[in-house]
This record gives sequence, structure tokens and C-alpha cells, in this order.
Amino acid sequence: MEDARPIEGGMMIGEKLEVIRIGAEAIISRLEWNGFKMVSKHRVPKPYRFPELDRWIRDRRTLHEARVITSLRRLGIPCPAILLMDRSEATLYLQLIEGVELKKVLDSLPAEEVERLANELGRMVGRMHRGGVAHGDLTTSNIMLDRMGNLYLIDFGLSAITDDLEELAVDIHLLDRSLESVHHRLRAAFMRSFLKGYATAAGMDFLQALIEKVKEIRSRGRYVEERRKRH
Ligand SMILES: Nc1ncnc2c1ncn2[C@@H]1O[C@H](COP(=O)(O)OP(=O)(O)O)[C@@H](O)[C@H]1O
Ligand SMILES: [Mg+2]
Repeated sequence: MEDARPIEGGMMIGEKLEVIRIGAEAIISRLEWNGFKMVSKHRVPKPYRFPELDRWIRDRRTLHEARVITSLRRLGIPCPAILLMDRSEATLYLQLIEGVELKKVLDSLPAEEVERLANELGRMVGRMHRGGVAHGDLTTSNIMLDRMGNLYLIDFGLSAITDDLEELAVDIHLLDRSLESVHHRLRAAFMRSFLKGYATAAGMDFLQALIEKVKEIRSRGRYVEERRKRH
């Protein structure tokens, strides 16, 4: 940890700032403000965009992420609370989740714990979908696990407020793909428990319709891959 300093020329609130991640779109930092730990998500200016447009895009995305988080908190879905929104700097100040990305620990957890977490995640995502929100980037990097074994969803930059079955199905598809590529050994058991949890929250009929959509998306993906191979 180091002393407070502005990043990217922007004003930062708080002290002892540490950059957690420099992403394509945003810089995530950990900071302390009057002894209170939090995280800032600052959307950085893109030099290739016309400045006025750049400011507008970053503001819209910040506002959008804040809106989604607010609806999720209203639905009772665990995600970091918004402590402050600084629109002039395109920065959200969020509750620090004291935990790790699920991606980093999932493979080392006992089988029963994996199933419990998958079921819990299924309930969360089912509730989120019935509440009309698609996460948009549902991978194990965007799910956090704290020391008490609680899960949180993070990173709503690509999310949508929608009832469109296809957009919701993309969440399941992406989660399944992330398990396939990163946690291959756990994929089948994880998805089984996940879907059980999902049905508990969203209902069996809804789940059935969703699974049909996921299959459609998957076969479309295969079709595209095969065409790529042939060309
Ligand atoms: N509220 C938070 N509490 C703790 N860590 C966080 C929080 N938000 C983000 N992070 C950490 O920063 C990483 C990147 O944040 P994320 O919102 O996923 O942005 P990106 O768009 O760069 O993926 C996360 O994977 C997580 O490790
Ligand atoms: Mg992320």
C-alpha cells in the first residue's frame, strides 16, 4: 500500500491506494477512506475518441453500472454496495468485498462445497434473471467468495436490463464455457447443482425454456467455428 495519489490525472477520494487491476475499460483500486476500506472503479479516457463523446460514453457506462447494481441490491442479490458515484470522473466507489475471485479457488475446494456454491450461484442468477437483469459477463472471474463462504456478483459493465430470453441464456452459456475452459473437471457437477438452484429461484418452466435457448446458442457457436475451420 502506498500514499494517496491521483491516477490518470483524476481526483481520487481516500488514502493508501493500491491498483488491483488495470482493465481494458477501467482501473480498479483498493483504498481507505477515514479507516473505511473500499474499491474504486474508474473508467479511463480513451485518447482515440473525440473528447466530448469519450466523456459521454464513460458517464453513460458508469451510470448504467450503478443502475444495475441498484436494481440487484433491491432484488436482494449480493453485490458490492455503491458508496459514491463521481460522474465527473466516471468513477464508482464500491464496497470492498474481502474475498477472492471464485476462479482462483474453485478447483481446490471439496466437492460438497463446490456443489453448495454452484447451487447458491444458481439461486442468485435465477433471481437476477427473473428480476430482468442479464449479467453479460458471467464467468468465475466476476464472482467473488468471502471467508464466510458467501458469494457476490461483480462487474456489471456488460450487463443489460432485459427480459429477452436470449440475453439471459448468454449468461448460462458463458458460465458453462468458463467452467469448460478453466475448471474442466468440475464442469458437469457444477452445472448440475447450478441449474437445480436456478430452478428453485426461477421455476422449472422458465429453466426449461432457457436451456432450449442455451442449446441454440451453443449450436450456432459450433456452426460458426466449423465455418471458420473450412475457410
Ligand atoms: N467490490 C470489489 N471488492 C473486491 N474486489 C473487487 C471489487 N470489484 C472488483 N474487484 C476486483 O477487481 C477485478 C476487476 O474488477 P471488474 O469489476 O471485474 O473489472 P473488469 O471489467 O476489469 O473485469 C475483479 O475481478 C476483482 O478481483
Ligand atoms: Mg471482471
